[in-house]
Amino acid sequence: MNLLVLGRGKTGSLTAEVARERKHFVRVVGAEDNNAGEALTTDELREIDVVLDFTTPHRVIANIEARVGASKHMVVGTTGWHGELDRIRGRVEEKGTGFVYGANFSIGVNLFFEIARASAAALHHDYAGQIFERHHKHKKDAPSATAITIQKMIRETSASEKDVEIVSFREGDVVGMHEIVLESSADRIYLCHDAKSRRGFAEGAVRAAEWIAGKKGFYDFKDVWREV
Ligand SMILES: NC(=O)c1ccc[n+]([C@@H]2O[C@H](COP(=O)([O-])OP(=O)(O)OC[C@H]3O[C@@H](n4cnc5c(N)ncnc54)[C@H](OP(=O)(O)O)[C@@H]3O)[C@@H](O)[C@H]2O)c1
Repeated sequence: MNLLVLGRGKTGSLTAEVARERKHFVRVVGAEDNNAGEALTTDELREIDVVLDFTTPHRVIANIEARVGASKHMVVGTTGWHGELDRIRGRVEEKGTGFVYGANFSIGVNLFFEIARASAAALHHDYAGQIFERHHKHKKDAPSATAITIQKMIRETSASEKDVEIVSFREGDVVGMHEIVLESSADRIYLCHDAKSRRGFAEGAVRAAEWIAGKKGFYDFKDVWREV
């Protein structure tokens, strides 16, 4: 496939590398080449099958609007914009394109989401819960989309009225660590996912691009990761 990766940063660069390893033709565009969306005109996108986005919370909505306008399939890894999901879903459905977004494209985290769901039962047995998330100091959004997803899953599964608290830490070059701690008067349960590198995110995003290429619709990676 012909892929366009938006974002020459930590995750975008690795995503391009993984896509080339998987024999795709890849173009990478950074902020300098796309300041006002000049890399996303219908002409520029003509030969592109899927666009992958690993940019910034401030830039991503403009990028999405341009690509939906050009009826392009998309994989959006950038976080910090999920408050606009319903509006973007409407635009994608109106245009009939394919769109995959995800708080986290790593298979390990998506397995961890299921562990989080199971752990919600503790809230019915006198446990109090907390979510701790740690990321590198350059991360722009807090709490992380992954922590918000875990919180939502625990809320929905436990049907609890009060949300489990999220505590965010921004320090050093931590790739991404998420912990769920459940505490009763008798004991503590610790659940932890710790990303060793960004490779898992990059592989998941490229596989999502391969999966969405021949489809239409609006998908959350956590609902489709088993198929990709
Ligand atoms: N869903 C997941 O699995 C997952 C995993 C990891 C990260 N993320 C998210 O992905 C995003 C990027 O993370 P990162 O760690 O790669 O950040 P990063 O290293 O800061 O990279 C962000 C990149 O976006 C580029 N950019 C900004 N505006 C742009 C534009 N208009 N067009 C093209 N590129 C533009 C920047 O370019 P310059 O360098 O030229 O300024 C920068 O290289 C964040 O929102 C992060 O939370 C998601």
